[in-house]
Amino acid sequence: MASVAVIGSQWGDEGKGKIVDWLSSRADVVVRFQGGHNAGHTLVIDGKTYKLHLLPSGIVRKSKLSIIGNGVVVDPWALLEEIKTVRDQGVDVTPDKLVIAENATLILPIHSVLDAAMEGARGNDPIGTTKRGIGPAYEDKIARRAIKVCDLRDLDILKEKLDGMMLHHNALLKGLGMDEVSADDIYTKLMDVKDEILSYSGVVWRVLEQARKDGKKILFEGAQGMMLDVDHGTYPFVTSSNMHAAQAATGSGVGPDAVGYVLGITKAYTTRVGAGPFPTEQENDVGTYLGEKGHEFGTTTGRKRRCGWFDAVLVRQSVTVSGIHGIALTKLDVLDGLEELKICVGYELDGKKIDYLPSSQVAQDKVAPIYETMEGWSGSTQGARSWKDLPAEAVKYVRHIEELIGAPVTLLSTSPERDDTILMHDPFTS
Ligand code: IMP
Repeated sequence: MASVAVIGSQWGDEGKGKIVDWLSSRADVVVRFQGGHNAGHTLVIDGKTYKLHLLPSGIVRKSKLSIIGNGVVVDPWALLEEIKTVRDQGVDVTPDKLVIAENATLILPIHSVLDAAMEGARGNDPIGTTKRGIGPAYEDKIARRAIKVCDLRDLDILKEKLDGMMLHHNALLKGLGMDEVSADDIYTKLMDVKDEILSYSGVVWRVLEQARKDGKKILFEGAQGMMLDVDHGTYPFVTSSNMHAAQAATGSGVGPDAVGYVLGITKAYTTRVGAGPFPTEQENDVGTYLGEKGHEFGTTTGRKRRCGWFDAVLVRQSVTVSGIHGIALTKLDVLDGLEELKICVGYELDGKKIDYLPSSQVAQDKVAPIYETMEGWSGSTQGARSWKDLPAEAVKYVRHIEELIGAPVTLLSTSPERDDTILMHDPFTS
């Protein structure tokens, strides 16, 4: 297949950065298709660390085209800041290398105000959002009052739309007893950034049509993970976009068959940032061990991630719902040294055994994991580059995961280093 879509199969932070970097070195075009600067992908290339939030990972490589698709919500100030940061690191960012869909939705300063206000209004039950304004920006898009990149070109329409949008939001702010936000202020701020943002804007679906005609390899770079998907995740403790592989098509403007191989990035244990159900969470020494050894702190907010055992039920659900063809299993080395490992193979709900995560918030809170226990390994998997370098128990663990989730391991990552990867087959040629 000439295209690969990378999506997270858990709650995000599965270690996509390294895999996406490895794949982007083989791709010609890298496309972001959902989310915004709530994402955080860390790339380490030739000893240099790049922390990307909104820019596609292809940006740090020469002669790759990076695309921000229409499914992304773009904070223009955050984007220009990120461009400046990578430029300072020696990366060339020009309109030849970066195209932003002219129909992408903008995140405006009002959206982070609303994000914080709505979190505050939830009192003791917040979602734990990144407070980047992601949810409110998507709300505006669906409510048909959003400002799109192309609106920056037509100032009369821009002004009119901003007035309409702020009429709506100020009524809410007033109701919450908060200060109103002026449409004129936002307009003035947009005037500072519009020319630079417009210099990157383009008709992405046509760019992708041409790329496909030219036989280019396209990598669709997903952010977050299936359990944070607004339809299929642990609603309402989710983000506001779809991580589903089909979103690679809708969020960039290609047909479903152009998405190609769907690679699910999967951590060898489970983590989650923010609030919400997490059946296999370990609030004990095991969780602390995984968190410390796995350096489980968020790239975007620096928050400590919650940690727990591998949940095969959730990953099998993601594999099935999103049509994942194979997985990239990451951070196996973090499990080195644990005497025994647990894998969740089902749940108990009201005295009954079930093999999926129900949709209801109440049921998700109540499910108790059913575990299988496996022997751990005393040897090291760190840096392994072939199956024969792995302890027998580690091979058993990986094989059992494949069996439980119903998908093969396409790639196995054994350290943050790029070359510490065991490749079963190249997804671009699968
Ligand atoms: P939002 O995307 O800022 O609205 O946050 C909604 C939920 O998604 C919160 O629980 C966040 O912690 C979570 N979330 C958003 N982006 C990421 C990510 O890139 N990795 C992990 N969790 C995320």
